[in-house]
Amino acid sequence: MNLKRLLNDRIAAALEASLGEAAPAVVQSAARPEFGDYQANGVMGAAKRLKRNPREVAADVVARADLAGIAARCEIAGPGFLNVTLDDGFLATSLATSAPVEAAPEPETVVVDYSCPNLAKEMHVGHLRSTIIGDAMARVLEALGHTVIRQNHVGDWGTQFGMLLTFLDETGADSELLSDLETFYREAKKRFDADVDFADRSRRAVVGLQRGDPEIRRRWQRFIDISLSHCQEIYDRLGTTLRPEHVMAESAYNDDLDAVIADLDAAGLLEESQGARCVFLDEFKGKDGETLPLIVQKSDGGYLYATTDLAAVRYRARRLEADRVMYFTDARQALHFRQVFAVAGRAGFARDGMSLEHHPFGAMLGTDGKPFKTRAGEVVKLIQLLDEAEERALAEVTRRNPELPEAERREIARVIGIGAVKYADLSKNRTSDYVFDWDQMLSFDGNTAPYLLYAYSRIRSVFRRGEVDEDALTGDVLLAAPEEHTLAVTLLRLQETLESVAADGFPHLLCGYLYELAVQFMRFYEACPILTAEGDVRASRLLLCRRTAETLKTGLNLLGIETVERM
Ligand code: ARG
Repeated sequence: MNLKRLLNDRIAAALEASLGEAAPAVVQSAARPEFGDYQANGVMGAAKRLKRNPREVAADVVARADLAGIAARCEIAGPGFLNVTLDDGFLATSLATSAPVEAAPEPETVVVDYSCPNLAKEMHVGHLRSTIIGDAMARVLEALGHTVIRQNHVGDWGTQFGMLLTFLDETGADSELLSDLETFYREAKKRFDADVDFADRSRRAVVGLQRGDPEIRRRWQRFIDISLSHCQEIYDRLGTTLRPEHVMAESAYNDDLDAVIADLDAAGLLEESQGARCVFLDEFKGKDGETLPLIVQKSDGGYLYATTDLAAVRYRARRLEADRVMYFTDARQALHFRQVFAVAGRAGFARDGMSLEHHPFGAMLGTDGKPFKTRAGEVVKLIQLLDEAEERALAEVTRRNPELPEAERREIARVIGIGAVKYADLSKNRTSDYVFDWDQMLSFDGNTAPYLLYAYSRIRSVFRRGEVDEDALTGDVLLAAPEEHTLAVTLLRLQETLESVAADGFPHLLCGYLYELAVQFMRFYEACPILTAEGDVRASRLLLCRRTAETLKTGLNLLGIETVERM
């Protein structure tokens, strides 16, 4: 049940009938409670365009709109806004007959490209953001009935691997040592810079790797396996849905790269510039007005990040038959993706109508506003970050519930700690930089994971205290108090929220929705006695409680956050 779309369709039809031509109804949820539940803002613009009096058009639209059985009132306000208040009977029936989440009208095959660490180095906070946001998006799209194909485009190829393999040989480093990839990389680089012979062997290793020398390949594979298992550890700790089978690494496209170059050539797109092979498209200009190249092959014959991404578009179009590809990386890659998408379009790598979308996010900053680092200025190890989240949550849980057994406190702390890290990231508009702040994310007040988890557990405790058999609750809700009406409308807004999240790639819309739902629930909870109410009223309020808990749990799970029954 997508309320917004329903109203939009009905009002747009009336608007078209009134004006004699189609015009957008622009329905959105009401800016203020006194405006009702939804408002339609489209009349003014349409009337102005056709030089008609907006209030007259509004009156005509109200008269024509088929809202019987849906809206209790549709009123004209100001210069021609329409304020819609939904009918309580309609809300009650909708709650009884619709599932919290329903399939979207047009299911698609969507590739979600996310996480994608570079295996030569430690996974960093940018990959953490990509993992958290991308995973939430994959879950939401799946819940709406889309076929989601997760692609973890890990960086496992390139010249630095020659150096790392040679160093691995020398040190005989085991997986323990490799658990600190950052140090391993630094040491290898030191050797590379200091020792000509080492550098030479490294270069030969790269050539061997690219030629497919079986021995070098075997050693490389071992390195990759160890790095990937570290990544999987983080995925599991975070509770993301990424599995080894979602890895489609850069190296997997190796055999396609010659064909990519040949196709670009055949399409007349290749040009040589300073020995390198490039694609120049007029729409990409640098500051000095010169056309920017997309470099696809270096003068030594080596391929680049862009070449692999072109191959990936080709694969996702031809083999995966994607309708849509969503990439989640930091904003600094914006130009790269614009160029790759444009070139892929010209070269015929993308399918007709295939949507290629880069969904960028900002940097993760410390509370000092600087890039997120340890106090010593080093890269933060993600596993340690998650340990700290759980420790901090445990301290708070213990302060609040000292009487709970330790094992239960630890389990609650795990859910809160991991949930807090994820929710803090997901709840901000991803396009801006984001400040990682322990105190804010672990606070029990405001738009945070602990607040929502607490709201959920409060509802669960109502059922425990009342010893209510939830499954025995049936029938429609009775919406008498204004708080009940608003809660019912809010409950039904999950669907339209999820569809917006899916369309725009903005999980913070779902967070904002869940927070609003928790706030509306608390208002209802304070205004309307539940367990002390009687008969149908009690049953109705318990039904509202049950649906709220279900909706909170569904929404949090779609964000990749678990819930606890009490805390
Ligand atoms: N490995 C890249 C990085 O860490 C991100 C890859 C994103 N996906 C892609 N298809 N380019 O910056």
